[in-house]
Amino acid sequence: GAPVDLSDLGTAGVVPVLVVDDAATGLRAAAALADGGLPVVEVTFRTAAARDALAAVAAERPDVLVGAGTVITAAQVDAAVDAGARFVVSPGLSVAVVERCRERGVPVLPGVATATDVITALDLGLHAVKLFPASVVGGPSAVKALSAPFPGLRFVPTGGIDASSAGDYLALPSVLAVGGSWMVEKSLLAAGDFDEVARRARAAVEAAAA
Ligand code: 3PG
Repeated sequence: GAPVDLSDLGTAGVVPVLVVDDAATGLRAAAALADGGLPVVEVTFRTAAARDALAAVAAERPDVLVGAGTVITAAQVDAAVDAGARFVVSPGLSVAVVERCRERGVPVLPGVATATDVITALDLGLHAVKLFPASVVGGPSAVKALSAPFPGLRFVPTGGIDASSAGDYLALPSVLAVGGSWMVEKSLLAAGDFDEVARRARAAVEAAAA
């Protein structure tokens, strides 16, 4: 697909985080999210099928902005980008991951949990970070507190967010988007309930627009 930058995630407002055990389920989930008005998906590199699922979405759904999540090594950056990832997300901040993403020309969203992590991210020239795990480090209050000393930095809180809490994060000016797996919950995928995936995607889009 065409080059993207992280403002495209801001436009969506919500980043569905997908954990899949087979490529076909990944493809169906991506299609359901797009049906719900959310043509974005982060495929996490924490299952054996992640690479194939990402490649399938990249190949068959050019309308979907597909990225890789749980990327913790430079080698995984290469695997993800080779499979078609158009952005990369990490739970933490690895200089090696950030540098390899730059070399490969893909936007990267590394995770931070502390002010020290944020300072490292700023030193690397980053303008947006994932806050992870958002609900555990203090929820919207943590985003507010961490935003105060770092004006201009944008956050993508992720971890423990669901339909009922997403709006509280999205209301904060420093929040670029929120991430989470609630729209593509494992039980929905296992049950083949892709109508509910689409319904949750639509509700998330509405929350982001509100
Ligand atoms: C991630 O990889 O960002 C998290 O697993 C997403 O967190 P959640 O499953 O609590 O939404």
